[in-house]
Amino acid sequence: MEQKEHDVILSIRDLNVKFTLRGRTLHAIRGVSLDLYQGESLAIVGESGSGKSVFTKTFMGLTDQNGAIESGTIQYQNGMDLAQLRTEKEWQAIRGKEIAMVLQDPMTSLNPLKTIGKQIEEAVVLHQGLKGEAARKVVLETLTHVGIDDPERRYKQYPHEFSGGMRQRVVIAIAIACRPKILICDEPTTALDVTIQAQILELIKALQKQYGLTTIYITHDLGVVANVADRIAVMYAGDIVEIGTCEEVFYDPRHPYTWALLSSLPQLGIKGEPLYSIAGTPANLFNEVKGDAFAPRNPQALKIDFVERPPYFEVSPTHKVRTWLLDPRAPKVEPPEHIKQLREQGVRLRGQA
Ligand SMILES: Nc1ncnc2c1ncn2[C@@H]1O[C@H](COP(=O)(O)OP(=O)(O)OP(=O)(O)O)[C@@H](O)[C@H]1O
Ligand SMILES: [Mg+2]
Repeated sequence: MEQKEHDVILSIRDLNVKFTLRGRTLHAIRGVSLDLYQGESLAIVGESGSGKSVFTKTFMGLTDQNGAIESGTIQYQNGMDLAQLRTEKEWQAIRGKEIAMVLQDPMTSLNPLKTIGKQIEEAVVLHQGLKGEAARKVVLETLTHVGIDDPERRYKQYPHEFSGGMRQRVVIAIAIACRPKILICDEPTTALDVTIQAQILELIKALQKQYGLTTIYITHDLGVVANVADRIAVMYAGDIVEIGTCEEVFYDPRHPYTWALLSSLPQLGIKGEPLYSIAGTPANLFNEVKGDAFAPRNPQALKIDFVERPPYFEVSPTHKVRTWLLDPRAPKVEPPEHIKQLREQGVRLRGQA
């Protein structure tokens, strides 16, 4: 996919986020840069604690009280540097309106005492300036757009009358009703099984086309984004270690952490053998990370991995990877055999999701 400079809707540069916890400092986001392109769907994947939520919450001014952006810029297409916004009033111009977020647990974002219809209608009234019958019509339409059948009846129901997957659709409907330009979906819970997750992803994909949205989908399951994301950013220890098109990350991954993530996909498991899991524990972000944060867990780590942080190496104009393995001076390290075979297996992966 060719991208031009003017297509960038959100441009993040050298973002650092730190938290203070019981007198100690945790460096959660460690110098992340990312260009988000207008109309694309970007998936952010990584283990629990890698910084996916903290990173994207900075675009909404939702960083927890004990944390702050220490440095870096978040340039929005309207010319604002979101990293500079401080007050709730300033954020009101962005939150929901320009950038909306669907949170991990749909139950926490729905009011149990109000009907689904009313909750969506509030967003329509507030953000689209519609009233009465016109607002109601848009609500019914939106319910249909997010794949909820029988909208007239559903309109009058309460959140507890919806299944987990359906509630997730309602939350997306509320977000859509605000007409944002960017929609961030923070993994629709571990409570949703893989099939429902895949359906939600398909829905987001459809809405993206319909409403011209730019989407970020956050997950720790690379499998679910196989056939829907345009690009994949792999996060580890508060940094993007590999980014590329879906094809590049699946069929030509270069970072040992991406290899490990791919290896733990159930689709790659060998029948009768335990599923691969990444050895060791994630980096402790209370300590200063030296070199490549993944080095202590990487069986193929080089000496320099423990000393100096790798820069990004460009595999293609769309594919960038932070690993010393791509340095021309590095010894040749081959990805594991099953990763090399992914090209063929990929056909199946795609068919399955
Ligand atoms: N309010 C906070 N105070 C201290 N540390 C925090 C706070 N919020 C997040 N962190 C830390 O920041 C790091 C990144 O957390 P984050 O929630 O972004 O991970 P994640 O990738 O979203 O994980 P998950 O997949 O479990 O949602 C973790 O080490 C986490 O413990
Ligand atoms: Mg999270």
